[in-house]
Amino acid sequence: MSSKTTESGPLLLALPGAESLAAAIAAGCGGETAGVTTHRFPDGESLVRLESSVAGRHVVLTAYLHEPDAKLLPLLFAADTARELGATRVTLVAPYLPYMRQDMRFRPGEAVTSHTFAAVVSAHVDALLTIDPHLHRIASLDAIYPIRARALRAAPAMADWLRHEVPLPLLVGPDSESAQWVEGVAALVGAPWTVLDKQRFGDHDVAVAFREVPDWRGRTPVLLDDIVSTGRTLAAAARALIAAGAAAPLCVGVHALCNSDAEQALRAAGVTRLVTCDTVPHPTNAIPVAPLLAAALADLEAS
Ligand code: R5P
Repeated sequence: MSSKTTESGPLLLALPGAESLAAAIAAGCGGETAGVTTHRFPDGESLVRLESSVAGRHVVLTAYLHEPDAKLLPLLFAADTARELGATRVTLVAPYLPYMRQDMRFRPGEAVTSHTFAAVVSAHVDALLTIDPHLHRIASLDAIYPIRARALRAAPAMADWLRHEVPLPLLVGPDSESAQWVEGVAALVGAPWTVLDKQRFGDHDVAVAFREVPDWRGRTPVLLDDIVSTGRTLAAAARALIAAGAAAPLCVGVHALCNSDAEQALRAAGVTRLVTCDTVPHPTNAIPVAPLLAAALADLEAS
């Protein structure tokens, strides 16, 4: 088995596709990196192999978990293998934590997937680091993750980007739960902020309304949300802003889950630009999160 490890610092094992992220985090926290390779047998089952010895190491599995279903089993196989081969602890770094929006049974018979996903992951790793998980009806990750689970805020990184790119922003969240992200970023950039009221009627059918129309004069409206999926939430908000007399807004999102026509929907609604954090690889990524993750990992390592 190949190895490029020493006996100190965390060992970041990158799941397929997360190699650059693992390297950037390792560079920021004095860790080392190796890969996890996977092979799909003709029957559709997976072979998983850790490309480093892990005995005596703090192993940090680093994974992008958008489109999570096919990624989950290889991740769990890797976590169990690290434990079996002597890792002292196994941490999962997943900048986007999936399944957090299904935090209740909206209709009879639906699975509350945020709970099941949390239980499954928690049975296989000792700690979790993630960024701005969608916390709405669940107050904190501790409510559903029995392991040490830390939710980092992308707000400082987003505020940094805004400070350099948008001289006088007015931040707008498209719904009440976005207040937690919008307020944090607004405080850091010293900008006014407001949130809209949203109603969702279906995957592609969203309506928003103002509580009160803010004073736009001299300011660039910036729509800010945690997740961009179909883009319909931000598109509806952009239309409402423009109808209320604001200039065409730009949008800043944390997690670019963007489906194929999300960007087109935003353009059609008058959005000038979509910028996202790199928690999910996407052409709109402009705000790096590796420094946040590296600092949090260094803290965890020291504890
Ligand atoms: C929902 O509550 C989230 O905060 C986002 O507003 C939502 O997931 C965005 O989805 P979409 O882009 O499909 O409207």
